[in-house]
Amino acid sequence: MKQFISVKDVVDINALVQKALAYKAAPLLDKHLGVGKRIGLLFLNPSLRTRLSTQVAAQNLGMEAIVFNVDKEGWALEFTEGAIMNGTTVEHIKDAAPVLGNYFDILCIRTFPGLLDQADDYSEKIINQFIQYAGIPVVSLESATLHPLQSLTDIITIQESMELTGSFKHKKPKVVLTWAPHIKAIPQCVSNSFSEWMNAWGEADFVIAHPVGYELSQKFTDGATIMHDQDAALKEADFVYVKNWSAFNAYGKVLCTDENWMLTNQKLALTNQAKVMHCLPVRRNVELSDEILDGPNSLVTKEASNRVWAAQAVLASILKSTH
Ligand code: CP
Repeated sequence: MKQFISVKDVVDINALVQKALAYKAAPLLDKHLGVGKRIGLLFLNPSLRTRLSTQVAAQNLGMEAIVFNVDKEGWALEFTEGAIMNGTTVEHIKDAAPVLGNYFDILCIRTFPGLLDQADDYSEKIINQFIQYAGIPVVSLESATLHPLQSLTDIITIQESMELTGSFKHKKPKVVLTWAPHIKAIPQCVSNSFSEWMNAWGEADFVIAHPVGYELSQKFTDGATIMHDQDAALKEADFVYVKNWSAFNAYGKVLCTDENWMLTNQKLALTNQAKVMHCLPVRRNVELSDEILDGPNSLVTKEASNRVWAAQAVLASILKSTH
């Protein structure tokens, strides 16, 4: 693997999932693989899980991990080609990224979308310029449109849960991604990415449920069944992935905050005793009810802990391919 920006960088999803589960069983299996290598984790936006799980994963592989909160501690970066830099930005990405490429063996970037200009965000100009100018493998820690480490984790968590129950030997699980209310405009990244990975994985009946107006980009959802009736979508679901996102077409807008879309035990009763997932952080009793999050069907803590094994499998694949 030369980089990890989307599911397109993965040759065999199931092999990567099994590699991650092997690391979960034996975290220090490849503790010498990254000795003498350094990984830079650059954050242009906040994080808890992604930052810490990737650090732990790198350390399990023997790598030194250095975190840099660019948004708080670095120079303000310029990403526009030909910019006359007489404003607030101090350093062009063309100058900064090659320097980072000399300090590190792998560069990881978190950069959220502005949610103001769809074309600008969906061009992925920030992470693409790090790739263009750093000259070393780049890993997305969530970019303007995608969150591939989260999606890999989500498939690992579904696979692990399926293996534990043993009841999916003869049928595909039904996985429902359902929109949930939120008070703020939230990026489409997690939902785009989950859709893209579920479609590429192909081992589930995948349904997306959302109110009218919350259609995601077809680039990521093509292949999924899309429904606007949440109760109908939830029927016989085996896994329910709860996530808010702002509108893609009316770009970045909050069109609806209908609290009836929040998953409750009453709605869960429509499912096949579904396991409930969320990437976290979650706004309790807005996006997801306490009774679900604190109940026996919630996978959210396991899901977050699996972030380590997803990151470890990806970093190991990159290290092995650049040896
Ligand atoms: N799920 C996730 O990416 O969490 P953080 O934003 O805390 O990294």
